[in-house]
Amino acid sequence: MKKRRMRTALLIEGGVLIILVLVLGVIVLHRDAILRADTENLTREQDGTYVDQDGVIHVGTEEDLTEGDGNGTARTDRYGNPDDGAGDAAEHRVIRDSAGVEGYHEGRWWNATGAAIYFQEKPLEINVPAAVNTNPLSIRALVNREYRLPEDYVPQDLVEPDVPFALEGDEDRKKMRAEAAHALEILFEDAKELEMDFVAVSGYRSYERQTLVYLSTVSMQGLEEANEVSAIPGSSEHQTGLVMDVSCRSSEVTDLTEDFGETREGKWLADNAWRYGFIVRYPADKEAVTGYSYEPWHIRYVGLDLAELLRDQELTLDEYYGWSNADYYFDEEAVYEEVRKWYYGE
Ligand code: DAL
Ligand code: ZN
Repeated sequence: MKKRRMRTALLIEGGVLIILVLVLGVIVLHRDAILRADTENLTREQDGTYVDQDGVIHVGTEEDLTEGDGNGTARTDRYGNPDDGAGDAAEHRVIRDSAGVEGYHEGRWWNATGAAIYFQEKPLEINVPAAVNTNPLSIRALVNREYRLPEDYVPQDLVEPDVPFALEGDEDRKKMRAEAAHALEILFEDAKELEMDFVAVSGYRSYERQTLVYLSTVSMQGLEEANEVSAIPGSSEHQTGLVMDVSCRSSEVTDLTEDFGETREGKWLADNAWRYGFIVRYPADKEAVTGYSYEPWHIRYVGLDLAELLRDQELTLDEYYGWSNADYYFDEEAVYEEVRKWYYGE
């Protein structure tokens, strides 16, 4: 009787063990199947990223799940290259963001699940001139005297970059679109490591604020000179939220003057802004093309790919789109009257 009971107990224990092993096996196989399915539907690109049938890039992959940070998050460097494990601190930078931004790739920020966070850009046109991009949501939008923004255009993702500012307080003009703000933070951090002391001065400006800036510049400097330094409302890139005017403390240049271009920071910015997706929008030797005086402090975010192309081909954003101020008829007096009318309602 006792023996039989023991045999039964052993059989039960053995059965439980077999069931446990089977369940564990099913879990492991299922997990592998999921991982395989995840990557089977993706095509591995030369740069080590994965693209699905719709052309959407996925940063989180099987490799990342096993070799990444354990959360399914791909570790990529600031140019979106997969982590090579070499231990280079700069390559392991993960962008901090409450919206879940985890990495930068192909001109876009991605979250941990591989979804693009911001507006999906078309592939970059490498043949110049490119078709003019007038979509205010696009980081590549052309905004100038001819291609103006609507009065009511306000970017919806404005944030204050975590960088030192020349002004105090909670101000709209400290803000930039989130993507540009992140890029600016990285630029400032890298510059700091090189012992440069940048300071942010002026970012987003509404249509109305630009109207005020323009009208006061006209009243101080006269119409002709004002048009060389200040954009008419709707034509200022500051309204895009993709711009920051910057200066530096180290050389006591906190005003926005051409002298900034001669400082160590100004020179470094001209040479390196493209690495962060920015361009110095109004260079000294392109005044006839842009229609504006040299502004070594005004950096415009266009994304890494376009910034690199413009730098390689020594083009302004206007030239990329085949535009030149020299070919554009601008009736200064008539436009000024329009602006005044809009503002004063006369
Ligand atoms: N200073 C530049 C041209 C602007 O007003 O946007
Ligand atoms: Zn500016």
